[in-house]
Amino acid sequence: MAEWKIAYDSWKPEEQPLREALCTLGNGNFATRGAAEESSADEKINYPGTYLAGGFNRLVSKVSGKDIENEDLVNWPNWLPLTFRHTGEEGWFELSQVEVTHYRQELDMYQGLLTRQIQFRDSQNRETHITSRRFLSMANPHVAALEWELTPQNWSGEIEVRSALDGRVKNSGVARYRSLASQHLVPLETGQHNDETIFLLTQTTQSHIRMAQVARTRVFVEPPSENYKRETKTGDKAYTEQLLRLSCKKQHPLRIEKVVMLYTSRDFAVSEIKQEACTNVSRLGSFSQLLHEHCRTWRHIWDRCDLEIASNHNAQRILRLHIFHLLQTVSGNTVDLDVGVPARGLHGEAYRGHIFWDELFIFPFLNLRLPELTRELLMYRYRRLPEARYAASQAGYRGAMFPWQSGSNGREESQVIHLNPESGNWLPDNTFLQRHINAAIAYNVWQYYQSTTDLEFLSFYGAEMIFDIAQFWSTIATYNEQKGRFEILHVVGPDEYHTEYPDSEEPGLRNNAYTNVMAAWVIRCALGIAKVLDNTRLEELYEKLHISADDRSRWEDISHKMFVPFIEDGSIIAQFEGYEQLQEFDWEKYKKKHGESMRLDRILESEGDNVNKYKASKQADVIMLFYLFSSEELLALFQSLGYELTEKDISANIDYYENRTSHGSTLSKIVHSWVLARSDRKRSWSNFLEALMSDVSDVQGGTTQEGIHLGAMAGTVDLLQRGYVGLDIRENVLWLNPALPVEVSYIKLQLRYRGHWLTLLLTHQKLLISVDKGFTKKVKIGLKGQVHTLQTGDKKEFEIS
Ligand code: BGC
Repeated sequence: MAEWKIAYDSWKPEEQPLREALCTLGNGNFATRGAAEESSADEKINYPGTYLAGGFNRLVSKVSGKDIENEDLVNWPNWLPLTFRHTGEEGWFELSQVEVTHYRQELDMYQGLLTRQIQFRDSQNRETHITSRRFLSMANPHVAALEWELTPQNWSGEIEVRSALDGRVKNSGVARYRSLASQHLVPLETGQHNDETIFLLTQTTQSHIRMAQVARTRVFVEPPSENYKRETKTGDKAYTEQLLRLSCKKQHPLRIEKVVMLYTSRDFAVSEIKQEACTNVSRLGSFSQLLHEHCRTWRHIWDRCDLEIASNHNAQRILRLHIFHLLQTVSGNTVDLDVGVPARGLHGEAYRGHIFWDELFIFPFLNLRLPELTRELLMYRYRRLPEARYAASQAGYRGAMFPWQSGSNGREESQVIHLNPESGNWLPDNTFLQRHINAAIAYNVWQYYQSTTDLEFLSFYGAEMIFDIAQFWSTIATYNEQKGRFEILHVVGPDEYHTEYPDSEEPGLRNNAYTNVMAAWVIRCALGIAKVLDNTRLEELYEKLHISADDRSRWEDISHKMFVPFIEDGSIIAQFEGYEQLQEFDWEKYKKKHGESMRLDRILESEGDNVNKYKASKQADVIMLFYLFSSEELLALFQSLGYELTEKDISANIDYYENRTSHGSTLSKIVHSWVLARSDRKRSWSNFLEALMSDVSDVQGGTTQEGIHLGAMAGTVDLLQRGYVGLDIRENVLWLNPALPVEVSYIKLQLRYRGHWLTLLLTHQKLLISVDKGFTKKVKIGLKGQVHTLQTGDKKEFEIS
């Protein structure tokens, strides 16, 4: 069972912010950080944040005399508060006020349960033991519950238990944002529903999302007694509490259950949210009944989504942690909520809960386990097409231009200025020019279709997105007579260190290779889809989107004549045009001082220098191409563009950029590990281990506490399935090209592929495939150039040499 648990065996206040993020519990509807129930937010140790999927609000802040509007994922009222004190004494129990003699915190990922065992001595030498257990129900998306078992070790006496709902919260989880406006909630009402239930109603200031929270608190003493007093305080609209006064006997445990329900104005099937919450909470069973249902739902999820790996370095446990956090952020409960996947989960406030291109790293896992979830998450983009079309037209293009950072309605949410904590300077932020997000969305639609053959989705939603994105690329591309090729100007690639030329006043770069190749791929994809859809639908779409025959002939043209820059016409793809003129960077000097993963942009700016001047990337950029496409596909793509690229060139490009990348984004190591999976398994494995440790060890020094890195988490899992098992869907065949690192003795996983459940067991000698359950259709599996047809019930073993 150890492989299912993350445990901490001592109380270390300085580690608490990181532990809070890593012990966050969520159910795809909302999530709460692993903060202590008895704590309240302070600026250093405790931050009990609760976040709702899609719970955004906008506020205006004054920065350097300018009004800046930001949209944030709101920190909602804290439902956790539970503590006690000895009657007649002032202070409430808090870890900072007692001597902790034993502490163990355990996150059980199989059950989705967070447990703390605390033994402590207070200033009166009273010793007390508390076991606290908590979960956010996967079975009922509105329910959270916690339980305390309090045992006086060497004392008897009367205590007061305090159970509260606290709406006096704001967004202050990220130090960099603290000078900006942060009060997102307006308190509306608090009150008592019945003897054991209190409620709190609140609303966001601008988006007017309402949330009702109710808390039902019960106590159970041994031997049973009803002899306790309860008092409810409701004077404050933002805070309500119940005080329960009762007697404790030495060595007799006292059990407290707090069951909370949370409804919002975004929910379906409700009349009025406060009434709904109050009525439904009284229908709920006990803590243990609710826990039972919750664990059963998690068991069902794990039955589909777990994978096994035999290796060193805790890989099994950490991979489970990654799957766990992904499925707590998006789950079956997310369906119909109209949300995307926030890059930092529902685990903290970094990046304000925005949705980026990170879905590119996340969807491959979901596509092959819970495709219905990917479909739902793609609909988040589809519903925001009108906003993306408007953005394209405002910028002078046709089609749809999706924002780099997306939130509630699909408007561009990237910040216009950002604070460099190293220097204290506010700087312009031009990362919004990452138009490649559009290619990621089209790529995700196509990959979903490849894993599912969901033609209805492609026909009614997916194709529309791909066509509109192709049209955007076609109109942002301009023809350069001199080059005899199309080019894309004023953009930024995935590497956020390069947003302009060092001597330029204007933001943006010319011909970012990744962007250009992806644009050509999207256009080719759009042309290919035309062959898949029925003519009626195709004509409807062409008419609706105003795509003419001339437009399509321009698409054809671009798909063969997109410009890709190379360094001195050699075999190294230039990250962007003019890249070779940048200066080489003194990596040794800076690595010695700042370690491996550095935020060079911030460091150099604080030294009065500029990272734009150097051949120094934040993350994989050109290399992304080798990550997204198999070498067969990529070489063919380059060939169709009229460029010769060989297998050997791919290795040379990987080496070239690996030596010039600082891995300032956790996504970077995933990509670098991936691209080496075949050519250099040792280096690939060491990169994989670094990616694996990104969040558990907080390699970026303080970023994980502000929210986990979901792209990197899901990316490590995907690395096993697509990188090491070598899974690739091409021409209706599921190709497998295994390359197991020596450090791994086997990988076992289950996949949902085109309606079938497949189980794959890969060792260094053999690959065993069983087609467990599924539709009657046959499955084509490709291995070493040969295609095999399997069907339900088949088991096949292949030799691997
Ligand atoms: C990375 C982006 C990523 C974003 C959110 C940034 O640091 O450069 O590629 O999308 O974080 O994870």
